[in-house]
Amino acid sequence: MNNSLVSITDYNKEDILSILDAARGFEKKPDRDTLKGKVVATLFYEPSTRTRLSFETAVVRLGGSVIGFSDSGTSSSTKGETLNDTIRMVSCYADAIVIRHPLDGAARYAAEISPIPVVNAGDGSNQHPSQTLLDLYSIRKTQGTLENLKICIVGDLKYGRTVHSLIEAMSYFKPEFKFVSPDELKIPEEYKIFCRKHNIPFTETAELNGSFNDADILYMTRVQKERFQDLMEYERVKNVYTLHNAMIKNTKPNLRILHPLPRVNEISMDVDKNKKAYYFQQAQNGLYVRQAILSKVLKTGDV
Ligand code: CP
Repeated sequence: MNNSLVSITDYNKEDILSILDAARGFEKKPDRDTLKGKVVATLFYEPSTRTRLSFETAVVRLGGSVIGFSDSGTSSSTKGETLNDTIRMVSCYADAIVIRHPLDGAARYAAEISPIPVVNAGDGSNQHPSQTLLDLYSIRKTQGTLENLKICIVGDLKYGRTVHSLIEAMSYFKPEFKFVSPDELKIPEEYKIFCRKHNIPFTETAELNGSFNDADILYMTRVQKERFQDLMEYERVKNVYTLHNAMIKNTKPNLRILHPLPRVNEISMDVDKNKKAYYFQQAQNGLYVRQAILSKVLKTGDV
């Protein structure tokens, strides 16, 4: 393969820790010229604020240049060009591709045909590995460790690609999970099988209140409207959980609340000022982690 990052399982524990260590260096010194002369293409077939802008900022702060599209409606895919042909063309212009696509497996397909590295910026409900690496960075930064943590994951566990990648990545660090979701959005069976195979204890509940009182990390997620076939079903579950400040009262002092963002209604704004709220800093950490990812895939020597 071509040094791509498609799934978090493409990285072993050592790879993950080397990214986190390098990201710490980028946090101290984000402005460098290690990507001078390099061109990174960002191909976003789905909307994004954080992932695209932080990848693009990462390139610019490392001295590289960005090409691409934030709306596939402005690309020749609207004329019927296939993903195969788009990837083949873009790889003639750029040194690496960052791609977000609504179809599970699209990033893997792109990586298989591309002669240059491909970074998956989210494919359908499958994987979001750069988000997971920034989640791990945020967890380690706030807890001082990744080992033996109790992690409560709330919301859309069925379609939430950030959840799926996070479960796989945490398997190196002896976590304990609590999965909180309505029946319609339960964690898919394959991830429960994964947990059992890796001796990861987990429980499932539909009740949010009190479920995170013993947790180190509360990982809230948005109900993924764009993945529902039946919008009536989305309407039934869209506001199933809202975290309010009063609900955080009896939690551990080290608890930190993460959310990959965007949020809709699942975290009330009265939580934002609570010192346990960490989601905006988490998004900021994405810049440093994505600088590390690009440095690794483009072999600058910093990771
Ligand atoms: N967390 C995340 O993927 O955010 P965006 O959809 O804004 O990129």
